[in-house]
Amino acid sequence: MVKIAPSILAADFARLGAEIDSVREGGADWLHFDVMDGLFVPNLSLGFPILEAVRNYTDLFLDVHLMIREPGRYVRRFCESGADLVTVHAEADTEGGIRSALREIRSAGKKAGLALKPGTAWDAALPFIEDVDLILVMTVEPGFGGQSFMANMLPKLGLLRETLDEFGLDCLLEVDGGINSLTASLAAASGAQVLVAGSDVFREADRKSRIEQLRGTKKDDADQEGVGGLPPEEA
Ligand code: DX5
Ligand code: ZN
Repeated sequence: MVKIAPSILAADFARLGAEIDSVREGGADWLHFDVMDGLFVPNLSLGFPILEAVRNYTDLFLDVHLMIREPGRYVRRFCESGADLVTVHAEADTEGGIRSALREIRSAGKKAGLALKPGTAWDAALPFIEDVDLILVMTVEPGFGGQSFMANMLPKLGLLRETLDEFGLDCLLEVDGGINSLTASLAAASGAQVLVAGSDVFREADRKSRIEQLRGTKKDDADQEGVGGLPPEEA
């Protein structure tokens, strides 16, 4: 069964504790925490004080997505601030810089992830394959929530799935960006095991229903319509 990781970027920060409770009670597996530096992406978001506060508040697995340049400068501090998994972008530093960041995350006793922007080829992950517990395929340009899913990322997911299976690697595949009940099923069919969703989870009060729809355990109207005009059995 796929894991659902609500992204708190779409939460109401004035009521963050209650927002976390609502997704936890709704069945969220992980909590996704987006960090932006205004350089790697043209936006700023969350940092250490909020991560520490979230860590003190919940025992949910914290999936920290660093959209920052030269992440090796800060990975240890994110581990110490409560992350369970820290993901760095392949594009954010030299190959050596990324490898040492990944190794530092693991040496801190945490899981290490590698993210690929939409324009980065699937095989950019290969040099790091021994050093990662998760590969994150971005299905929007990183930096903002609420964008549309890029269906042309599905072949990239499929190639990574085949490679991980072929080598028998114990590495999760995650997708992030534009996930809703329709795109969730496409991503899962292409091999994604962890689905990040921000706006789709937080846009309605009934978080349990949103999460169940993403997981595919509850049918909604959109499922009945299929994808792109195709009936459900062909979509
Ligand atoms: C975008 C972030 C995402 C974002 C997803 O750069 O990495 O995690 O919160 O938001 P939605 O699900 O709204 O596309
Ligand atoms: Zn993210």
